Amino acid sequence: MLKRISCHGELHLFGGEGTVIHADFRDITDELLSRWRGAARVVYLDPPFNTGSSFDFRRGKKQVAYSDALPKEEYLALIRDAAKLSYELLSGDGTFFLHIDPRISHLCRLELDGVFGEDAFVNEIVWSYKSGGRAVNSFSKKHDVIYMYRRSPEAYFNIAAVGTRRGADRRNHMKRGVDEEGRVFYSIRTNGKEYRYFEDDSVYPSDVWDDIEHLHQRDPERTGFLTQKPEALLKRMILACSEPGDLVIDLFGGSGTTAAAAAELKRSFVSVDKGACASAVTRRRLIERCLKLSLFDSVSPMSYEAYPCGAPCAEPEKYFDITEKNGALCFTIRKLPENALPYYAAVGTVSSEVFTANDYLLRLRHGESITVKPGECLHLVDEDFGEGYFLYEPEGSAG
Ligand SMILES: C[S@@+](CC[C@H](N)C(=O)[O-])C[C@H]1O[C@@H](n2cnc3c(N)ncnc32)[C@H](O)[C@@H]1O
Repeated sequence: MLKRISCHGELHLFGGEGTVIHADFRDITDELLSRWRGAARVVYLDPPFNTGSSFDFRRGKKQVAYSDALPKEEYLALIRDAAKLSYELLSGDGTFFLHIDPRISHLCRLELDGVFGEDAFVNEIVWSYKSGGRAVNSFSKKHDVIYMYRRSPEAYFNIAAVGTRRGADRRNHMKRGVDEEGRVFYSIRTNGKEYRYFEDDSVYPSDVWDDIEHLHQRDPERTGFLTQKPEALLKRMILACSEPGDLVIDLFGGSGTTAAAAAELKRSFVSVDKGACASAVTRRRLIERCLKLSLFDSVSPMSYEAYPCGAPCAEPEKYFDITEKNGALCFTIRKLPENALPYYAAVGTVSSEVFTANDYLLRLRHGESITVKPGECLHLVDEDFGEGYFLYEPEGSAG
């Protein structure tokens, strides 16, 4: 009745445009270039920082999301390959960002200079945060580095898109006043001249970003992916360097922060990651986001393309009581501990090995159910990020 089938792609039809690809970007370079060469206004890369550790995904129980322990030469070759591909993917007026930490940043910058050229370097953004412990044997390490390079001097950049209201708390030692139009200002007199700073004027970020904190443990944005970055960080880069409708690409997508920020800002996105866990988290995050915001209004679909990355297989019988009702199959969640529940389930149709999702079970709870009609398919991702597509063919039916 339930037949496991293979699919090589997915469509989630919100009417919007975005692609999540589960693959090592080096294995799909030609495909990426054939589809998106010169198309991206922004490429953001947040690779592993070569810390020598592995990083977990935490959802009830822990599992390894990815390992970050390559020999230095191999690691730098990875950065070089990613930078070269990014250069090809960027439009002539596009901007590139590499997010890295000070342990390896000096070596990465040399790689970027080699690919983009020293003259293409624009900023070393310091992302400074307070979270984490305090050191006593050295100064506490409280910042990451984001290198910004332009594909050409004509790169798009709009600082006004990331301005914030000056407000009242930037007045320092200045005198408060109100002008003829009722605008509040703070003034200072130097050499007989008065300088006025209006409360409702915009101020623009410098290359030190100390106003965006790391996500706290209980932050609603948290997905459980340990190296997840705040959307606010991505939004600042995307807003300043692209316009609605532009394409944003991330080759180390992780939990999908870039894609989520791009979607929210009405940019399209391509998010690539080789980890099964990263891709599953990204898919669910985007589906939840898009369903909630219904923000896509263009015509092309968001698609998820799964490349075989050796994930184990999911088994529907382990999670669902399956009953037949009026010719359809009803999958009802069994009573299981929260961390043993499947991660995601969707029902849809399959054509030419592409699954098109029609309905979702996203925050699965005991007793919840989803119905699969004859000819429809259940797509299941289990608690270990094993996946499977299961086609429902009633006994006696053709094929
Ligand atoms: C630091 S995390 C990215 C976190 C992401 N910015 C976020 O906010 O969730 C780095 C990611 O790069 C992925 N990765 C490492 N090497 C890769 C490769 N060659 N191709 C694609 N993804 C890779 C890892 O699986 C990991 O998910």
